Amino acid sequence: MPFAVIMAGGRGERFWPRSRVAVPKQFLNLVGDKTMLQLTVERVREVVGISDTYIVAGRDFKEMILEQVPHLPEENILIEPFGRDTAAAIGLAALVLERKDPREVMIVLPADHYIRDVPRFQEVLKSAVAAARRGEDIVTLGITPHRPETGYGYIFQGELADTFHGVGAYRVARFLEKPDYAKAVVFLSTGNYLWNSGMFIWRVDLIRQLIEQHTPGLAQGLRLIGQAMGTKQYLPVLEEIYAGLPKISVDYGVLEKAERVLVMRGDFGWDDIGSWAALERYAEKDEQGNVIEGRGVLLDTRNTFIYSPGKTVGVIGVENLIVVNDRDCLMVCGKNRAQELKKVVQALKDEG
Ligand code: GDD
Ligand code: MG
Repeated sequence: MPFAVIMAGGRGERFWPRSRVAVPKQFLNLVGDKTMLQLTVERVREVVGISDTYIVAGRDFKEMILEQVPHLPEENILIEPFGRDTAAAIGLAALVLERKDPREVMIVLPADHYIRDVPRFQEVLKSAVAAARRGEDIVTLGITPHRPETGYGYIFQGELADTFHGVGAYRVARFLEKPDYAKAVVFLSTGNYLWNSGMFIWRVDLIRQLIEQHTPGLAQGLRLIGQAMGTKQYLPVLEEIYAGLPKISVDYGVLEKAERVLVMRGDFGWDDIGSWAALERYAEKDEQGNVIEGRGVLLDTRNTFIYSPGKTVGVIGVENLIVVNDRDCLMVCGKNRAQELKKVVQALKDEG
């Protein structure tokens, strides 16, 4: 049985003010009544046992994770002392799993994705595990793009390499993380590019080796952490070394540089619910294209998303707005600028 590693350490700044530092989006129920993390754990249950499921996150989130996933063994929560992005989080998990079985497959999953067709997702995932089991390739799941999104990585799909359980595995000719808008437009028009879903399937020993090869600074720190693992020195060593690890995502650090990458098509209905604008795509709309969570009266208002639990809202004569009224914060933003919420969060941080 493969391992699953769920990365749950992101801050979800594009969901301000619902996501505060204290409760990032993976711990919120943005779609339906389960949290994004709970949905992620449930989805993978068909393929991975709960005792082989691991969650990597900061210390502050430990209680929340145990509360939301009560059947998860406590030692399966891997605590990073600081956020050092996904390459470090994955590296830390790989160190732990290497001690269990270095030749086993590790499925890396973000904690904040929407997946429509869960049975299909499980089928594709099982095929990806079969492809990764050979230990030669990184296996990615690619999504057919439908807009020039600049917040995703792009995969140039090459020739068919093999088929696993009826699902084709294609060579990745090129991987490009977060292109600018002009490039994204070109990628979309050529028809050969897929979005990187951010889910990775590889053998534990392979990702360890690729980190060594492509991000030597990280690899060196991980080696020291690995040496201390299981000794009394572990926590202080982890704290000290982790602080100095390079902050780089696995996409820039490994995927862009790796030579042997396969992609399998993730035709299960996918979205990174990365911002209010993304969430809005999945909400039920009225005839004018409005979404309202909470109570309110909307007059001459179109394509507007309102989230206002417990507070009544009146709106007249606007369009294409996102309005979030949550506890002691009010956020109003043009729909096409929802990605920029990070700037507000940063400005508030700077003000202290
Ligand atoms: N444990 C831990 N520590 N988790 C982290 C950290 C960290 O320091 N940083 C991010 N994460 C988690 C997030 O919570 C999320 O679940 C996942 O890792 C991916 O991080 P994001 O910050 O959401 O990445 P992204 O959306 O900008 O880009 C990635 O995902 C896209 C698809 O959703 C890339 O893989 C892109 O190539 C991809 O298209
Ligand atoms: Mg994301």
